[in-house]
Amino acid sequence: MPLPEGFLNELRERADIVDLFSTYAAVKKRGRTYVCCCPFHSEKTPSCTIYPDNQSFYCFGCGAGGSTITFVQRMENLSFMDAVRTLAQRVGMQMPLQDSQEARQANVRRRCYEINREAANFYYLNLLQGTDKRGLQYFRQRRLSPATIKAYGLGYAPDDWNALRDHLKQKGYSEQELVTAGVCRSSAKGNVFDQFRGRVMFPIVDLQGSVIGFGGRVLDDSKPKYLNTNETPVFDKGSNLFSLHFAKNASTNTLILAEGYMDVIALYQAGFPNAVATLGTAITSAQARKLSQYAREIVIAYDSDTAGQTATQRALNRFSEVGLPARILKMEGAKDPDEYIRTFGADSFRRLVEQAGDAINFQLDKCKDGLDLSTEQGKDELLRRSVAVLAGIENSLQREVYTSRTAREMDVRVEVLRQTVDAAVLRQQRAAKKIQFHAIESRSLQRDELNPLSQKFPRESRAEQMILAYLLRNPEDHEMLWESLSPSDFVTDLHRRIYLAVCEQCREHRQFSLPLLEETFTVEEMGRISGIAARSQELPVSRDALEECIRVLKAAHSRVLPGETMTDDDLLQVVANQRKKQ
Ligand code: CTP
Ligand code: MN
Repeated sequence: MPLPEGFLNELRERADIVDLFSTYAAVKKRGRTYVCCCPFHSEKTPSCTIYPDNQSFYCFGCGAGGSTITFVQRMENLSFMDAVRTLAQRVGMQMPLQDSQEARQANVRRRCYEINREAANFYYLNLLQGTDKRGLQYFRQRRLSPATIKAYGLGYAPDDWNALRDHLKQKGYSEQELVTAGVCRSSAKGNVFDQFRGRVMFPIVDLQGSVIGFGGRVLDDSKPKYLNTNETPVFDKGSNLFSLHFAKNASTNTLILAEGYMDVIALYQAGFPNAVATLGTAITSAQARKLSQYAREIVIAYDSDTAGQTATQRALNRFSEVGLPARILKMEGAKDPDEYIRTFGADSFRRLVEQAGDAINFQLDKCKDGLDLSTEQGKDELLRRSVAVLAGIENSLQREVYTSRTAREMDVRVEVLRQTVDAAVLRQQRAAKKIQFHAIESRSLQRDELNPLSQKFPRESRAEQMILAYLLRNPEDHEMLWESLSPSDFVTDLHRRIYLAVCEQCREHRQFSLPLLEETFTVEEMGRISGIAARSQELPVSRDALEECIRVLKAAHSRVLPGETMTDDDLLQVVANQRKKQ
């Protein structure tokens, strides 16, 4: 069921693309456009450009592009309709009537949220008012105050197979719904029973403040220690973080990443509301990216055991990918932040946060692992490992500082170490260039899935792109263009469809804007179109160049005057000449 055009127009007017981007990435103004690090791939220098003029964006790094609705589609991985709905909600617009299947899906999600909220409430009340006091005793023994229990809505799941099931059924939820929401499970025989029994409960809350799932801990040493909600329509372990809804409002640019729910809660109670944890899995790129939206730097406070240290290295890699600086907190005399605070107090922990060293120190330290430094062999190996770390430091001044310090510590001449490091840097750079080159090469050899004929007719395809670039920048010339160039003159399919759609929009609306194409083209096709539009902003196509391009297409069809068709180089030459004239 198509949406009324008036509705989409209003939505597009109300949802500004720069605003929208700002909620996901740090956006910087650059002339008439804005730039940011692309939210769709990991990068450290911004290659994503936002064009407020036509409400579009394009990433020169990965080719993602489009306008507000495409952005939401990609960002949240949604269908066109769901993206429209999300955007409408954001700007406070009522959706027109929905079709039945989508209404059903939205309904399932809504019921999941409700069930999770009801369950959280049930566990919470059962903790405080139930006859079985073991949950409350457990939290007391772990020194949690009533205020902390309340802030996190902690609870206790009765030691009973059906308590929650019966409670929620009575409230009008079906057994199927309870299973879908993840609070119940269904046995092989089809009996539905409570997922969490006799466990203290940690509700997991998303950024909107909705309960989306739970972690449940046993009261003793039995296994598994924690049980987490499985994936549901509203719960995804890999993209949410425990306590981020509190941490994002803490008045600091530093977020602390701990391993466990109990660590985060203990930190909160000790005056560190800026702590978060993953949901029982190693940190993912999506989570690192999410944290980079709310923090300028991360302090990793993982457990001091070997597992924690290995996890630290992995987390460092994730943060480095998204360009978020991370420091590593070193704990001695306690296995995790919870235990540390209980033993040494909040002030001590605050000092640890302040003293947390950077990733390089951590990695240089780790080089010593497992080596006997009293032997020559051990020293050699340490030197070898250290050189690899030093060569990986991108900033050359920083590299020099660490290199000379390492030389001093290992008692080698700094010139010698510097030379070795420099050689390793060169090797690394060469290897990186090679990889980059291969990537470009293989990309150009790849079939163009979106526009298959462009591979076969590269020259014509490029001419078409330039014509479209001209049209997107000068839509008022559409009539003139239409007279000299008919869609059948186009060689490749996608370009022909874009030409048709743009000219049609211009005729119908007496004006053109990129977002109007969103309904006609897929997310990937929108990326391609935004790419053409973006390049036309950076490098406008002149009338002369336009005419050359039209000739290329005409010639391709008639093949009467093959000598007149342009090579790629000719075309580029025309553009370059134009540029000089401007
Ligand atoms: N975890 C899990 N399943 C397990 C064990 C751990 O999902 N069987 C996850 C939980 O999210 C837990 C985190 O890994 O919070 C860290 O584990 P651990 O250090 O054992 O948890 P703590 O929160 O420190 O638990 P406690 O102090 O209560 O022992
Ligand atoms: Mn612990």
